[in-house]
Amino acid sequence: MSANDAETERIRRIYDRRAAMARSSGGNANLRWLCGQAEGETLEIGIGRGRTLPFYPPGLRLTGIDLSGAALEAARRRAADLGVNATLRQGDATALPYPDDHFDTVVFSFVLCTIPDDRGAVAEAVRVLRAGGRLLLVEHVRSPNRAVRTIERLLEPITLRLQADHLLREPLDHVLAEGLELETLERSWFGVVERLVARKPEADEMAEAV
Ligand SMILES: C[S@@+](CC[C@H](N)C(=O)[O-])C[C@H]1O[C@@H](n2cnc3c(N)ncnc32)[C@H](O)[C@@H]1O
Repeated sequence: MSANDAETERIRRIYDRRAAMARSSGGNANLRWLCGQAEGETLEIGIGRGRTLPFYPPGLRLTGIDLSGAALEAARRRAADLGVNATLRQGDATALPYPDDHFDTVVFSFVLCTIPDDRGAVAEAVRVLRAGGRLLLVEHVRSPNRAVRTIERLLEPITLRLQADHLLREPLDHVLAEGLELETLERSWFGVVERLVARKPEADEMAEAV
């Protein structure tokens, strides 16, 4: 078993355990902003207990994937309570069981912080996104503020141990490295919370860029 596979297995156990715990409903403004922009065939990666489900526009064709079976069970109950129609499926963000160019929208909500190979997860998201489709993301990231970043650095060993939660990640680097075009980039909370929208270029635009 590789180090990434062992860490992925540890994360599955953590989020299976956490699925049994009550969760706060904080962060609704971010989730409303994020999910409100989803269109068409939509994939949410690491949907967890389905905290985002109330915020998607009605009529969306939504698929959610997560590593944790227990979290998905909670998401299924929440979808049923809300009357939301979603396909929820267990799987790994770094090996998505979908063909290339399949989704109109791919969503990340506070999930790249937990995936061992976050670069691989972004690459997979871009693979399954159709040309012209959009990647929507809200994540906590490395702060540009030196004092805050120092606090993140001090806390990270604890959050990694307890929740497999990285505090110093930069998803923007991966999004740009995959050739997506940035449409929106906002930071709040001393630059810790990042909101991002990026579009996958059409094939001819990609060719022109090379
Ligand atoms: C911090 S929780 C966020 C859940 C949800 N997105 C939210 O905003 O409430 C991170 C989620 O990512 C999932 N996860 C971690 N690694 C994953 C992977 N490699 N593939 C799919 N899901 C993963 C965990 O099981 C967990 O449900």
